[in-house]
Amino acid sequence: MTKWPLFRGMLSQLHLLLLLQLTLHRGGAHGLQWLRFTVPRWVVEGADVQLTCQFDVEKDMLYSVKWYKQGREFYRYVPAEPRMKQDYPLPGVIVDKERSGAQQVTLRSVGRESAGRYKCEVLTEAPLFRTLVKSGEMGVVQLPRGPLTVTGGQDAYQPGTNVTLNCSAPHSLPASELTWYINDQQAPQEYLVNYRPQYDPSGGVSPRLGLHFTAQRWHFPTGELRLKCTAALHRLYTEEALHRGAASPPDPGLLMTDGADKMDISNIFTLTALLLLLG
Ligand SMILES: *[C@@H]1O[C@H](CO)[C@@H](O)[C@H](O)[C@H]1NC(C)=O
Ligand SMILES: *[C@@H]1O[C@H](CO)[C@@H](O)[C@H](O)[C@H]1NC(C)=O
Repeated sequence: MTKWPLFRGMLSQLHLLLLLQLTLHRGGAHGLQWLRFTVPRWVVEGADVQLTCQFDVEKDMLYSVKWYKQGREFYRYVPAEPRMKQDYPLPGVIVDKERSGAQQVTLRSVGRESAGRYKCEVLTEAPLFRTLVKSGEMGVVQLPRGPLTVTGGQDAYQPGTNVTLNCSAPHSLPASELTWYINDQQAPQEYLVNYRPQYDPSGGVSPRLGLHFTAQRWHFPTGELRLKCTAALHRLYTEEALHRGAASPPDPGLLMTDGADKMDISNIFTLTALLLLLG
């Protein structure tokens, strides 16, 4: 009986060795393997875009690299052919052959038609004919053109006053995402007013988000209410617009704070400057 555990231990060691050898062997014989594959998820309209399909053939010989969009081939790299690089016309796909090779392809000035699924297929020579295939989705973004605008609001508020503003971003595709902040804290859902977005004939979307709440004393921690609207689009675009309103009348309880002190000092400076000018 005591022999069995030992035997089992030996067996499992043998097993491990076999496995290790198999993996090593496979690694050597398999050769072809991925290093890196990238198709950017979102790109800006008009940009040149590089798609990468990096692989290592190791001991194998590369036969071809082919790129497809929505299943249709648009670029081929075959080292054995006199014209190694070939491109095929496809709507929305302009290959920059100078900047394309075995491991990457560059698309020139992408447009809305360029959006879709891109696939790279790597094939090694006979007799093994190993293949690697990978694909990724790419979306094309039309950035907003023009400023983010905030409308409404007042110069001064009293606790109890309703604060009502709108924030709207210029047309973009897809729509940018709007967020309101009150004194750098994201505004609670119940303060937000959702409006239907506006569309332009080419499909661009202009979002609008309202902010509506009743001002409370604690909204003026430094004697003023700071409201900020931000717009963002897939990390390719961010923009912000500010609105400030003073507490009116100034809350005597707030005059001791830093912010209020600074405001007083700047007022004194302005006054001094004015007196100097008048003098
Ligand atoms: C906000 O936008 C809505 C919809 O366009 C409009 O009816 C409302 O008057 C606007 N409010 C402000 C404060 O601009
Ligand atoms: C302030 O807003 C609340 C809730 O929207 C509304 O019921 C109230 O009439 C408004 N007050 C003023 C003074 O406009």
